[in-house]
Amino acid sequence: MNLRILLVLVSCALSVTTGLVLSRGGSGPAASGRSRPLIGLSMDTLKEERWLTDRDLFIKRAAELGADVQVQAANGDDTRQITDVQTLITSKVDTLVIIPHNGEAMAKAVTMAHEAGIPVLSYDRLITGCDLDLYMTFDNVKVGEMQAKFIADKVPATGKLRLVRIYGARTDNNAKLFKQGQDNVLQPLITAGKVEVLHEDWADDWKPENAKKITNAAITKSGPNFDAILASNDGTAGGAVQALTEEGLAGKVLVTGQDADLAGCQRIVNGTQAMTVYKPVKNLANSAAEVAVKMATHRPLIAKSAINNGKTDVPSILLDIIAVTKDNMRETVVKDGFRAEADVYQGSK
Ligand code: BGC
Repeated sequence: MNLRILLVLVSCALSVTTGLVLSRGGSGPAASGRSRPLIGLSMDTLKEERWLTDRDLFIKRAAELGADVQVQAANGDDTRQITDVQTLITSKVDTLVIIPHNGEAMAKAVTMAHEAGIPVLSYDRLITGCDLDLYMTFDNVKVGEMQAKFIADKVPATGKLRLVRIYGARTDNNAKLFKQGQDNVLQPLITAGKVEVLHEDWADDWKPENAKKITNAAITKSGPNFDAILASNDGTAGGAVQALTEEGLAGKVLVTGQDADLAGCQRIVNGTQAMTVYKPVKNLANSAAEVAVKMATHRPLIAKSAINNGKTDVPSILLDIIAVTKDNMRETVVKDGFRAEADVYQGSK
């Protein structure tokens, strides 16, 4: 049976409603002999705190909606992630949700799924160069803008701010979007001579140890003479702070981050990290589970935006984010139940 899924793309600017009819939908739970929909979740990694949270929330919400989830994690390996997707296709999942390690490499996985009639939702990170069905994420350019705005606000009235920039993994489209947002804010200040970038590099695979090496390279190159490190997430911030600690500089250099990881929040209240960006992962995981179940059961969906992935305009759902410092930690991540107060302030001075 060739059932169809209807995705409706609403153009906010023009208030025009366009119907996109996709000729995919798999056989559906009933036709596959299952009583409950089965969602396949293919993850880049489970070695970072953030993704464990995403997984657990996604499974919980799917279960509440009467669906099962089969999870595969590729440990940062593109070949393995393709094999994982193959496994999920063999299990006849009704919808595939992919968090790609490498957005470009996973286009192949989308093609494989479509050949089996399975729709694909790209989760948090965009899969590029393919006919993707749906993309759900946070406003990633805004994340970069928030991080850079924090730094921009610290530029002294006279003189300049000396900056080290640590980007994320080159293979992750989000890392490019974070940089784009940072550039939007910083470029005018760099051109005006108010910000000087002493050193910049990409942290392969987002690894803290690579961020530490970048920070060490900056210290070797310029001495300990910088005011801030624009780290693109809390993991890389952690690596940077480790390098600063070894040089006796922790707490003296402003460090940014993202994710409101527990360790990141603890560094903020202890003064070794200046800010993070809280992305309410619960909203993303819950919405994605709801949408994935709708896709599995052939119900129509509404996406208010579209993002071009190099091949097509992908119907997209973008969620909002919040900047967090020592001052609003309790009113944001703690109040939201994302982190327990006792955990964040454990051992704080
Ligand atoms: C996510 C970040 C995360 C990073 C490393 C990015 O794609 O948006 O939240 O910190 O990957 O896993």
